[in-house]
Amino acid sequence: MRPVIYVEGLSVAYEDKLALEEVSFELREPAFLSVIGPNGSGKTTLLKALLGMVKPLSGTVEVLGYRVPGEEYEVRRRTGYVPQRERIDPTKPVLVKDVVLMGRVAKRGWGRGLTREDYEAARKALEVVGMEGFWDEPFSHLSGGQQQRVLIARALAVQPQLLLLDEPLSGVDAATQDVILKVLREEARKGVAVVMVTHDLNPLLEVSDYVMLLNKTVVAFGRAEEVLNEYLLARTFMRRVSVVKAGEKVVVSGVDHHA
Ligand SMILES: Nc1ncnc2c1ncn2[C@@H]1O[C@H](COP(=O)(O)OP(=O)(O)OP(=O)(O)O)[C@@H](O)[C@H]1O
Ligand SMILES: [Mg+2]
Repeated sequence: MRPVIYVEGLSVAYEDKLALEEVSFELREPAFLSVIGPNGSGKTTLLKALLGMVKPLSGTVEVLGYRVPGEEYEVRRRTGYVPQRERIDPTKPVLVKDVVLMGRVAKRGWGRGLTREDYEAARKALEVVGMEGFWDEPFSHLSGGQQQRVLIARALAVQPQLLLLDEPLSGVDAATQDVILKVLREEARKGVAVVMVTHDLNPLLEVSDYVMLLNKTVVAFGRAEEVLNEYLLARTFMRRVSVVKAGEKVVVSGVDHHA
């Protein structure tokens, strides 16, 4: 079987500044991968490179067996993407259902009318995140955490093989974080590959199969319990961190929890 993600020697620059340098890793089978690193360490750029939204300077990227760039449309049809802090213009009268149905358009392409199947998939996705009661609500009337759940529903409506989530836990309350993590964990259990970019280290050991520590290049990639240690985290964040294990829970301190 082809790996879900294969990245070899990937470098990406904005103008003349490198955002990613010689990044290599492989996610062989569907699993839950968390990507962590400080501000500006290239996490968002990595997700964009997987989707063909930025042009690499060099390197090889293959996602779901498709080459990127080149076959990124095949990747996007099969991938649910939740971008970082998406703003949907609050003056636009976009309803929750319109946002979720966008996931169906992404899957099928423009130019085909929406079918009953599309509406059913959209409703089901909203149900999964506990937002089915908001179908006809204006998106802008929702709280930040509710909006984030709708954006996750949009990604689920794609019925994806791969989910890419950029800081889905930031700016939402602890109860919503729990809902989101539970939904993502369940998707991973069903065989969807989940790649989650996050700053919040604390739930990682419980949810992640693999962790990547990223700081422009890959500092470490491995099983969550191997990678989440003080030495590797300090190298990633360039500051002292403490990792305290209490059973399944790992409490990390010394890292800014911003954004
Ligand atoms: N469109 C752009 N044009 C120019 N530079 C950019 C652009 N996008 C990102 N960069 C730069 O590339 C580097 C990596 O940015 P990226 O957004 O990938 O980091 P990040 O790890 O996602 O950060 P954060 O934690 O703040 O979301 C940063 O130095 C950033 O300033
Ligand atoms: Mg980012």
